[in-house]
Amino acid sequence: MRIVLVGPPGAGKGTQAAFLAKNLAVPHIATGDLFRANMSQGTALGQQAKEYMSAGQLVPDEITIGMAKSRMAEPDASGGFLLDGFPRNIAQAQALDAHLEETGQKLDAVLDLEVPEDEVVRRIAGRRICRNDSSHVFHVEYKAPKTPGVCDVCGGELYQREDDREETVRKRLEVYHSETEPIIDHYKAQGLVTTISALGAVDEVTQRAMSALRRD
Ligand code: AP5
Ligand code: ZN
Repeated sequence: MRIVLVGPPGAGKGTQAAFLAKNLAVPHIATGDLFRANMSQGTALGQQAKEYMSAGQLVPDEITIGMAKSRMAEPDASGGFLLDGFPRNIAQAQALDAHLEETGQKLDAVLDLEVPEDEVVRRIAGRRICRNDSSHVFHVEYKAPKTPGVCDVCGGELYQREDDREETVRKRLEVYHSETEPIIDHYKAQGLVTTISALGAVDEVTQRAMSALRRD
């Protein structure tokens, strides 16, 4: 299956993607995680992305689209993938459409996670991620690690993302409404969108997502 996951910052895209990708046996491709991995490795791409990410702005399309396309071209993604955080504006959605057409692939579904803004703010404020791998995600209250400050998966140190500061979160939400939300209509026109509530426990949301995907 080829799926796009969309939703505001802190909606739980990364959290759900980890379970969904496992259930569907496809790789979880998160552009935010790819940028953070590049940043911690000190690559040129990571350095370019950092200034935009810490300001809560989108990394330019020239950088993002090429990175996403080369990740989708890796062998593990040949049978399908779950995209998280990409596409994030109309130009990226059009570039993805063109890429899929050129490579003879098509999307099966766009899953839209809906969460009220006050919940998003609570989720982001308590989020802690792993220094070794930013897809290892915890929450001080809702998904507390067994040992405070230590990743349950790999033992790495947990920290708060720089872009999770209040004023940057406000900017990210603004960018989500102005740049990313329009892609929902873009995909509605293709009959691909299913909207689910992302409120409730993590496993309840996963169940909702799985049954929405089965219906397609
Ligand atoms: P990215 O890393 O994609 O961040 P985001 O979209 O803002 O999403 P988040 O990672 O903040 O949230 P999430 O929905 O994954 O929530 P999570 O599962 O962690 O992007 C960061 C930046 O990179 C962008 O601002 C931009 O600069 C750049 N970038 C990335 N992609 C780009 C692109 N395509 N183009 C240009 N720039 C790009 O959950 C949040 C918290 O809630 C966690 O603590 C979790 O434990 C908790 N939680 C999750 N589910 C539940 C639940 N059901 N109940 C209670 N708590 C829950
Ligand atoms: Zn870890």
